[in-house]
Formats: sequence, C-alpha cells, structure tokens
Amino acid sequence: MNFHVLTLFPEMILEGCSASILARAAQKDLIRVDAVNIRDFTQNKHNRVDDYTYGGGAGMLMQAQPVYDAYKAVSERIGKPVRVVYMTPAGVTFTQDKAAELASEEDLILLCGHYEGIDERVLEEIVTDEISIGDYVLTGGELPALVVIDAISRLIPGVLNNTDSAETDSFQNGLLEYPQYSRPEIWRDKAVPEVLLSGDHTRVEQWRLAASLKKTRERRPELYEAYMKEHPDLDPETGGRRKKKRKKRSACNQPSDVVNC
Ligand code: ADE
Repeated sequence: MNFHVLTLFPEMILEGCSASILARAAQKDLIRVDAVNIRDFTQNKHNRVDDYTYGGGAGMLMQAQPVYDAYKAVSERIGKPVRVVYMTPAGVTFTQDKAAELASEEDLILLCGHYEGIDERVLEEIVTDEISIGDYVLTGGELPALVVIDAISRLIPGVLNNTDSAETDSFQNGLLEYPQYSRPEIWRDKAVPEVLLSGDHTRVEQWRLAASLKKTRERRPELYEAYMKEHPDLDPETGGRRKKKRKKRSACNQPSDVVNC
C-alpha cells in the first residue's frame, strides 16, 4: 500500500511513521509513506499557501492552487485513478469497516487541511472521501492521517507478526476485545481466571466470547444488540449455544397448540 500524504507538515507524517510497527512495515516494503509538502507547489512569491476567507470571518483558508498542483503531481506519478481522502471533522466517522475497505486500495492520497480548512472548489474537484476520526476539532489533518495510516497498515498481510492478533481485535468481529492476562498467575492477590489455565481450548474460546459480550453490552450496547441479532443461538452468559427449550406438552402428551385431545 502506498500512502501519499498532501500536507504542510511532512515532518509530522514521517516522524509518526518512523517507529514501531509502521517503520518495520515500511522497511519490509509492505507500506510506503510519501509526504508531499503542499508549500512546494505555491506560486506565491512569499511562499504563502493561505489567505483570508471571502465574506469575512476569523482565520485563514488554504488556497486551491497549491493543493490542486500538489494533487496533480502525485496523481500523475501514480498514473491511474486514486481515491483522495480529505481529513476533516465534517467527514464520515472512521471505523474498522472503513479501514478494511481502504486497505484493499493499492494507493491512497490523504489530504490534510490546516487553519480554517481548504477552499471548497478544490475539494469539489479532487476529493472522493471525507473522513473524521471523531467529534472533536484538531489543529490539522496530520494526526487523523496518521490514525488512518496506522489502522489500515495493520490490516495488510505481513504487517503484524501474529496474523491472529488482527482477527481477534476489538471491532474486528463487531465486539470489544475480551480481557487478556500474562504471567504471573497471581499479581497483587489477583488471580488469572481459572479457565484460561485449563488448556481446554473450547472452554477458553467460550469464556472469551462471553467476556467480550459482557464488556460490549456494558460499554457499547448498540454493538451488542447488533451482534446478538446476528447470532440468535448464542448464550451470552456462557459463550456457547443456547440450550434448546423443549416444547411444553399438554396433559395428553400432545404439543400444547393441539386442542381437543
Ligand atoms: N481535522 C481536524 N479535526 C479533525 C478530525 N476530528 N478528524 C479528521 N480531521 C480533522
């Protein structure tokens, strides 16, 4: 996956990708992060990329020309149609499903705004997707772009060492992740749940599912309801299948809806 980030602060993007799993993924050529400085494309003799907004109001707006020319240079280099994702609090909320959808692209352009935003005309011209990382306003799109790069990258095969860990994550199956424990067995008088030491794989899986369901019901009831609707046979208390209720029979040993026996 090639991420092309259009930004006024390329160092923020490169720094953010220079450690831990993203750095290793780049080293292994599983991802490439190209930070393109929008300022390099300004035609203003003072290198300015922003100006006052028509109609008045506080703050400065990024102008259309340098953003468009930066986009043109990158898209010509890519040489085929590419999605352009504008990071904005007015976008659709970023989710695990959106990350999975974007992970199937070969190239992505991420556009980061600053100041009061970007001239609407260039957004209309080039943007295919608008993404918000939550209902709060940041000083620019760079941190949201890093969030998106991180969430997508860890879904790319080979980026995580243990492929399992992406599959069992919170949200990957629509539930929050169950609690996990490591050594020692007892820490400050707190013991690891006994079932996890049992070696019984089925019991462990059922315990984990029940624990996921409990946490999800408490913290994200809407996700819990959606999951239970999809899995009507599931017993949320045990993480196993519900025991089938036997049909009541009437005194004459017929199903109760048979009358006149
Ligand atoms: N730019 C500023 N705030 C943002 C947010 N919450 N999400 C995406 N981009 C942003």
